Amino acid sequence: MVNETRRISPDEVAAEISACEKVRAEISKIFESAPTYYIETFGCQQNEADSQRLAGICRLCGYVPTRNIKEAKLILFNTCAIREHAEKKALSIIGETKHIKEKDSRVIIGIGGCMVSQKRRADKIKNSNPYVNFTFDTGAIHSVPSLILGAVRGQKRKFILSDNFGIAEGIPFHNETPYKAWLSIMYGCNNFCSYCIVPYVRGRERSRRPEDILAEARQLIEAGAKDITLLGQNVNSYGRDLGGMGIASLMREICKIEGDFRLRFMTSHPKDASDELIAAMAEEEKIVKHFHLPVQSGSNRVLDAMNRKYTREKYLSIIKKLKAAVPDVSITSDIIVAFPGETDEEFEETLSLLSEVRYDMIFSFIYSPREGTPAAALDCQIDRAVANDRYSRLLALQDEITAERNARFVGRTMKVLCEEVSKTDPGMMTGRGNTPRPVHFAGDESLIGQFVNVKITKSDLFSLSGEIV
Ligand code: 5AD
Ligand code: SF4
Repeated sequence: MVNETRRISPDEVAAEISACEKVRAEISKIFESAPTYYIETFGCQQNEADSQRLAGICRLCGYVPTRNIKEAKLILFNTCAIREHAEKKALSIIGETKHIKEKDSRVIIGIGGCMVSQKRRADKIKNSNPYVNFTFDTGAIHSVPSLILGAVRGQKRKFILSDNFGIAEGIPFHNETPYKAWLSIMYGCNNFCSYCIVPYVRGRERSRRPEDILAEARQLIEAGAKDITLLGQNVNSYGRDLGGMGIASLMREICKIEGDFRLRFMTSHPKDASDELIAAMAEEEKIVKHFHLPVQSGSNRVLDAMNRKYTREKYLSIIKKLKAAVPDVSITSDIIVAFPGETDEEFEETLSLLSEVRYDMIFSFIYSPREGTPAAALDCQIDRAVANDRYSRLLALQDEITAERNARFVGRTMKVLCEEVSKTDPGMMTGRGNTPRPVHFAGDESLIGQFVNVKITKSDLFSLSGEIV
């Protein structure tokens, strides 16, 4: 269907922006100096991008950032629901804020993201966590200013669950690392993979207009962005709801913007990975030669049970085309082990697929039942010990492949964007080249946000290291 995406009206967005002004006025009466905000983000890059909007809103409301949750006067959690572990972690940290509120009743606590986009979770927070002022689902980020305003004014607690997710343009954002930017091009997912909660918590697929995306890309580049990642649950189906340009043309348009920057994209779905996209990657210098193409399983029976809509053979044919068109491409994947009913033989098929594709890296997960998804209702759940064993075997095989793939970079000189001081060695800097792997090299903070040429001298499982040349 074309042009059905709900657009939040500019008037509604303007009303929210003016709510920020009102919060500013209110808090100046309550606090002697600007109060602080703290945002904790769980989960994927989409959540990180959403948290940048939340940070923009907090700032416009007059709050200043703090890294210490205990001193914050506005605490926002952006939660994840993809696996049980993510929810447990968030619930435990949220529970600790009770004591912060007991010490200062002026503290405001709000929770957004995928976890509270499920009614049963929002209800549970409402009933069991009375110190939480509000929750908002992933389609209601633009409503956060009025939620904060209501809380500051001591109004009733609110729990937003939208029934029709839309797109809001013009929400402020704040990016602490302007050289590295997320750019959401679409939201939601229509695929309903049988294990996945995302379509239930992020709504149907909806694309931002190309002109809005291009304007934001220009704004990011002007602000110093050198590495931009286009985001969506399935960026390969970008634009279908608009009936206009697809992902390949969109990326080519962004590449035309003047400036020294690189373009990445994630995540892709193999059923929609097009020849046009592969051609764009092959031809456009600014597009990073990295394709994240989650396969999930190497078994056709499991792929069918997962509702993935492609076969192992189809997937391998895309990989073949990709490798032919983009020599030296880095391919990465997501793998789920122990999907309900997965047999030893079917798991072996995943291992053999890994050996065949030779991924640079995989993100692997033990299947986690998500209430409300079809797979959670299957009665052939896999024993935990079997799942753990498969998981270890998967990692061991991929480690061998990763070591081999990383070693190919040794001796090469790579253009690397210096991103931060190394987390493990304060004398070293960390950045990324034209691959998904981090690169470590000696340098200082003055290089952050700049491109440097690094000769790779060493590789290990997780990173590459080298010297600036
Ligand atoms: N259990 C385990 N992994 C999951 N993923 C999504 N849902 C589940 C689940 N229920 C994984 C998929 C997806 C990645 C983002 O998370 O591999 O590609
Ligand atoms: Fe989940 Fe599948 Fe949509 Fe990815 S494509 S978000 S795995 S339903």
